[in-house]
Amino acid sequence: MKMMKMKLLLFLCGILWVSADVLHEDLNIRGCSDSDGEFMYTLDGEEVWYADFKKGKGVEPQPPFIDHMSYQEGTYEQAVANLQICRTNLGISRRAMKDIPVEKDPPSGLVIYPRDDVELGEKNILVCHVSGFYPAPVNVSWTRNGQKVTEGTSINVPFPSKDLTFTQISRLNFVPQIGDIYSCSVEHLALKEPQTRTWDVETNSPQSGPGPAIFCGVGLTIGLLGVAVGTFFLIKGNECS
Ligand SMILES: *[C@@H]1O[C@H](CO)[C@@H](O)[C@H](O)[C@H]1NC(C)=O
Repeated sequence: MKMMKMKLLLFLCGILWVSADVLHEDLNIRGCSDSDGEFMYTLDGEEVWYADFKKGKGVEPQPPFIDHMSYQEGTYEQAVANLQICRTNLGISRRAMKDIPVEKDPPSGLVIYPRDDVELGEKNILVCHVSGFYPAPVNVSWTRNGQKVTEGTSINVPFPSKDLTFTQISRLNFVPQIGDIYSCSVEHLALKEPQTRTWDVETNSPQSGPGPAIFCGVGLTIGLLGVAVGTFFLIKGNECS
């Protein structure tokens, strides 16, 4: 009986833990400027749905390997209506605040890195991670060996951080070839000149330098020497008997 009670207690404990585990953060982000706008649903920091106002439709940017959460029809139309409301409110705030200039923070973080381990000739994605800026958005442009690249590039919608700055991530599909140099440049309202980071395939691909070759050579030499010495003593031994 005592054992039963113990088990029951553990079981209840388990349930409490589970319910503590399923706290999720469901966030709806809305914003606008005169020329731009954003309407996005996120779950636990991941983008689930956003309105692409340029293409005129909703987008579910979740990766293909998960079950997609879909939003009901009319969500995009709702986003468009919200954009109008946002712009009206923006006009009212501007008049009320007598066009006080907005605070401007340039990006505080700019990092470029490949999504996967670099394998020469294998498709990969270069990521340009821009964070700590206000207001949104930034423009990101890419180059390969000094030439502008637009094909295979994309950028996500601005994601707000707790400190009221934004993060945006731009991606470039690429195939690493030895000697290629890439760069991503970021334009922002608070920057006089674009900020640029470069990344080159040579120093970032796994080294196939002399290391393994030398070990292999030395190993083989010692091995062959062993065989030679062994053979020598074998013959000598046979001669003696
Ligand atoms: C981003 O590019 C657009 C179009 O070229 C331009 O109108 C806008 O001023 C740029 N934004 C920034 C922050 O430089």
